[in-house]
Amino acid sequence: MIEAGKILDVIEQLTPISLTINKIPCGGEHYLETGEEWPEGSFDFCRDEADAILLGAVGWPGAITEDGDLAGGSVILGLRSGLDLYANVRPIRLYEGVRHKIHGEFKQVWEPGMVDMLIIRENTEGLYHSLLRRSADKAQGRDAWEPSEMEFPGLDGEVAWDPRPISRSGSERVIKFAFEAAQRRNGAPGDGKTRVTCVDKSNVTRGCQLFNQIYHEIAENYPHTDTDHAYIDAFCMWAVRNPEWFDVVVTPNMFGDISTDLASVLQGGMGIAASANLGDRHGMFEPVHGSAPKYAGQNTTNPMAMINSVSLMFDWLGETKGDADCKAVADFIDMAVTETMMGDTLTYDLGGDSGTSAVGDKIAGILESLLRKHFAIA
Ligand code: IPM
Ligand code: MN
Repeated sequence: MIEAGKILDVIEQLTPISLTINKIPCGGEHYLETGEEWPEGSFDFCRDEADAILLGAVGWPGAITEDGDLAGGSVILGLRSGLDLYANVRPIRLYEGVRHKIHGEFKQVWEPGMVDMLIIRENTEGLYHSLLRRSADKAQGRDAWEPSEMEFPGLDGEVAWDPRPISRSGSERVIKFAFEAAQRRNGAPGDGKTRVTCVDKSNVTRGCQLFNQIYHEIAENYPHTDTDHAYIDAFCMWAVRNPEWFDVVVTPNMFGDISTDLASVLQGGMGIAASANLGDRHGMFEPVHGSAPKYAGQNTTNPMAMINSVSLMFDWLGETKGDADCKAVADFIDMAVTETMMGDTLTYDLGGDSGTSAVGDKIAGILESLLRKHFAIA
């Protein structure tokens, strides 16, 4: 987040965009120090005052709330659920110059230009529903919801279980979002076709059967978009073997969580993977990765995922507010990351030995010259 702050500073100084930044402390470590996941009123502030929310990773070992949930959960999951951020947009694109880390060695495995997919994870229901609902309740000061008791014939003794509701309306909105997103892209890298792949487990679960049925209903409205389907297990195989086939992928919540960690490997790892949590009114932007506590305070981790999330934020602000400057800034951040990737100021995950702050400085420096040229500010 410190490196993202450098990027915001450069934007503030060198563009006509003026930012009011409100910092809200939150997360597991904050919980251990203060007994609260974030200050009271923070959810309302995000809902009522913020144009966009930029979130750092929240987890911290041993930071568990009294009811056994991840401390910091009411921030990330409370916002996802409470603000109806139903589309979790996770771009997977391989930059030039990335060497993939396999067996502890670095070599280019996948071809740049052959990996450019957008995974859209449903973000408000599915297997996360109970925790999402509890988190939103806590974030808004309501009593936390618990699913009612259930019996499982044939299972004796202690049983822990999680319901996995998938609704028509929840599926419709995210699948429609995926088809709309596909219309704004260049198609799959392999054949240039605009394609939306429905990834589910409809051979096994009823929730996925509904999701899949709704996918086909929505697809009827997009006759020029290729329809495509993969079960989640097969998708994991094809994503690695044939990533060029995929353009936009839409999938229920938990499958999107798991498959985006896998897919991040195609682009060089979690140090690069950014995400946008979008609803009809609100947007929250965050890296796909967690807090990597074993690296805390060591200045070694890659800030690119966080910085790419800032780019997604400006892209969305530009789109929703019709602001060309924000759109331009999003592209310039991406150009600055692209150029950095070609150089040797890189963190360990990309085979370099530079620190977090050196990479942040490098990207901020390139962004600075791009912005100076574009906005002609001396
Ligand atoms: C993610 C994370 C979160 C999730 C955790 C931190 C709750 O893994 O954004 O992918 O599971 O959604
Ligand atoms: Mn995850």
